[in-house]
Amino acid sequence: MDNKVIVFDTTLRDGEQSPGASMNAAEKLRLAMQLEKLGVDVIEAGFPASSPGDFESVKMISKKMNRTRVAALARTSKDDIDQAWAAVCEAVRPRIHVFIATSDIHLQHKLKMTREELIKEAVAGVRYAKKFTDDVEFSTEDGTRSDRDFVSKVLEAVIDAGASTVNIPDTVGYALPEEFGELISYIRQHTGNIDKAVMSVHCHNDLGLATANTLAGLRAGARQAEVTINGIGERAGNTSLEEVVMALSTRKDLTDLSTSINTEEIYPTSRLVSMITGIVVQPNKAIVGANAFAHEAGIHQDGVLKNPMTYEIMKPEIIGLVSNKLVMGKHSGRHAFKARILELGYDLNQEELDRLFKKFKELADKRKEIVDEDIEVLVAEELLRGQDKYELDYLNVVSGTVAVPTATVKLRIDGEEVQGAGFGVGPIDATFNTIAKMAGTKSKLVRFSINAISGGTDAQGEVTVRLQENGLVALGRGADPDIFIASAKAYVNGLNRLEHLKKNPSLVSQARAL
Ligand code: KIV
Ligand code: ZN
Repeated sequence: MDNKVIVFDTTLRDGEQSPGASMNAAEKLRLAMQLEKLGVDVIEAGFPASSPGDFESVKMISKKMNRTRVAALARTSKDDIDQAWAAVCEAVRPRIHVFIATSDIHLQHKLKMTREELIKEAVAGVRYAKKFTDDVEFSTEDGTRSDRDFVSKVLEAVIDAGASTVNIPDTVGYALPEEFGELISYIRQHTGNIDKAVMSVHCHNDLGLATANTLAGLRAGARQAEVTINGIGERAGNTSLEEVVMALSTRKDLTDLSTSINTEEIYPTSRLVSMITGIVVQPNKAIVGANAFAHEAGIHQDGVLKNPMTYEIMKPEIIGLVSNKLVMGKHSGRHAFKARILELGYDLNQEELDRLFKKFKELADKRKEIVDEDIEVLVAEELLRGQDKYELDYLNVVSGTVAVPTATVKLRIDGEEVQGAGFGVGPIDATFNTIAKMAGTKSKLVRFSINAISGGTDAQGEVTVRLQENGLVALGRGADPDIFIASAKAYVNGLNRLEHLKKNPSLVSQARAL
């Protein structure tokens, strides 16, 4: 059996189902380009039938990918499959991913079908998809809570109908690793034609076992892993790409499995996803968390200085975490800036480059050193955002031991300048109160967090906010060396994302459609 694992990234589809993680078209394209650079084998770009916006972004990504397979998700209906094909047909390597649930719970309560009817439906869906492309994947949603003999029967039928990949999802993150590994072995042994398809695993992290289950599935014979960057996704998220890839490479002695991932792109990709979605990576997150390579205990530091192998099982450089980063500053010229931008993987036109260089110079006037993360923040703020309803033009805050915290704000709302002022218990509260009043928002601020992007008191502050309105959740982020400005930017970004969700209810219904 081949020991190469196919990495199927679903950050743009299942990952986007994380509460508040909606991305605009430019952000999705930027991420898809980075995923190609990372070396994933398949990008699941979206669920075209769920919304016109999703359809368009899958189409756009399909046209731009040079070598990566692009998959589009579809239920078994002809309409879903037609839309999936119309969205991916221009990809160099298109895939249609058809799914239907196989557990009795779903059959009785959601699909209201008998097992026999379900097999017919699944086969019809795969046959129909097969008319368009040879690359058809089939998923048994809620596979781990389904009768295993029934799953084998369904898979045998869909492989006969032409499915070339069969995926067994742990949709609700219910399985334990040993059990999941056994399920994959069982299905391999009891599905007569299984050698005609690649077996795939897709795990959710409700019990914190997604990576362990995925590894158990791979060791039992699956050869495709469905993953997301930073493990983002529905509820507690999906299996994280970086954990599976680094576990396989660090413990190759035991697994003898490998991937085509360019591991040095792991950290930049993780940063990009966090920046675009506003979902902060927890500091103790394996592989990409801020503390993943930080040694705090004196005895550990001493050991690492003497020989990193004492306490480090991976070198930080392997995932692209470089400590001797190229630092830029106010004397860096346009040429050096352009070269750095290219090295970071951004292919910008002259107008975008000029706009960004101006912002870079403004930032360099405030700070001595600009590192890659700062440049990425500039790109995300300046170039990846679409047409926003609200723009922050001006902020002035007064605070101190005797002053009443006051904020004066100028916003542009749909292009019109609006000014306002207000108070609060602190300067950030004053800023948010003022912006909320000016925007007339009914949203509630349910989370506020602040981090320093790099070391030093002149570091950029990175603020993330979570806003909620009528069941909609949006994350906003902003960065600036001034934390009040960073906070205002994050709040305005959150409000823009809420507007985006209100205008694209399908982004919410995509999750509900599943
Ligand atoms: O978790 C799941 O079952 C899914 C399928 C649609 C593959 O995401
Ligand atoms: Zn899923």
